[in-house]
Amino acid sequence: MSAWEAPGFVSDGDFHSDARLVDADAAPEDAVGEVSLRPATLDEYLGQRRIKDNLSVLIQAAKLRGEPLDHLLFSGPPGLGKTTLATVVANEMGVNIKTTSGPAIERPGDLAAILTNLEEGDVLFIDEIHRLNRAVEEVLYPAMEDYALDIVIGQGPAARSIRLEIPRFTLVAATTRTGLLTGPLRDRFGAAFHLEYYTVEELRDIVVRSATLLGVEVDEQGAIEIARRSRATPRLANRLLKRVRDFAQVRYDGIITAEVARAALAFFEVDELGLDPMDNRILDMLVNTFGGRPVGLSTLASALGEETDSIEDVYEPFLLKQGLILRTPKGRQATERAYRHLGCNYPG
Ligand SMILES: Nc1ncnc2c1ncn2[C@@H]1O[C@H](COP(=O)(O)OP(=O)(O)OP(=O)(O)O)[C@@H](O)[C@H]1O
Ligand SMILES: [Mg+2]
Repeated sequence: MSAWEAPGFVSDGDFHSDARLVDADAAPEDAVGEVSLRPATLDEYLGQRRIKDNLSVLIQAAKLRGEPLDHLLFSGPPGLGKTTLATVVANEMGVNIKTTSGPAIERPGDLAAILTNLEEGDVLFIDEIHRLNRAVEEVLYPAMEDYALDIVIGQGPAARSIRLEIPRFTLVAATTRTGLLTGPLRDRFGAAFHLEYYTVEELRDIVVRSATLLGVEVDEQGAIEIARRSRATPRLANRLLKRVRDFAQVRYDGIITAEVARAALAFFEVDELGLDPMDNRILDMLVNTFGGRPVGLSTLASALGEETDSIEDVYEPFLLKQGLILRTPKGRQATERAYRHLGCNYPG
């Protein structure tokens, strides 16, 4: 891995657009110096049963045939485990993983350099693949389909194209927005998986596993309390666990019970639905500032001082899932549940 110096390479990071308030330290969840909470194998990866079953068959079949795994696409909201799944796939195949991201690959030459540096069977992980530019994407087509690069040499009438073979690799791509992928790109993946939000039981298991790794004592009810307020997202569950741990150590005896978890989460302004102050600001705007009328995305974004992308990718999916807002043709609108959550009277 250390010899890997192609342009566009990003060492081991995630690309978080969701620096939420609860993430006070803004450190990546698997920061160096901290124990890694990231599962390394399919067994350690909790939840997403259907995807795991599918992957396990694909991986075993590829191994039996002695072939590289088919290209895979993982989609779903931030923090559900797409990057983690990419590393799990590489581990299960017993191959190296090289990580980069759509916006990091600026020119076709960058991608060509990355591809020619791969070894047979390697996993190339491209995060945020929907942000790949078109010229780069076109280099990817023959690479995915024929393990080849088409390179144009010379200019004008003398220009000719030569085909360069590259190692047979597996592209694993992640996106928060499948809708933004072009058809030709989507069609070139052997399998596409959409990650679902996690249940409270699955998140409870994740909290218990992470607590063990962190050496923190948490009881069943404490784990459930954290799980319930984690917006159905493992990344949040791990973050909340760490904050609750701090609180438990400073204000209590270090053991996380339901009572300790509730006190800590109130202290960190995470409410019973797992909404943080930003989520509540969005609801408050829709209900109070805009008086319950549908509000266009860009109007909402500028009123909040946020990017439209982060509203769509980070905040909105969970609010939609919770039935707190609706997407109508005229814009976003608060539901009756949102009014009740804020303690306001529903006009409808
Ligand atoms: N199924 C799982 N079981 C246990 N822990 C998990 C699982 N999925 C994710 N995690 C934990 O949640 C963290 C966030 O996951 P990950 O970085 O893979 O999300 P992501 O989908 O790639 O998010 P983004 O879209 O922001 O890149 C991981 O570091 C890992 O510790
Ligand atoms: Mg990721």
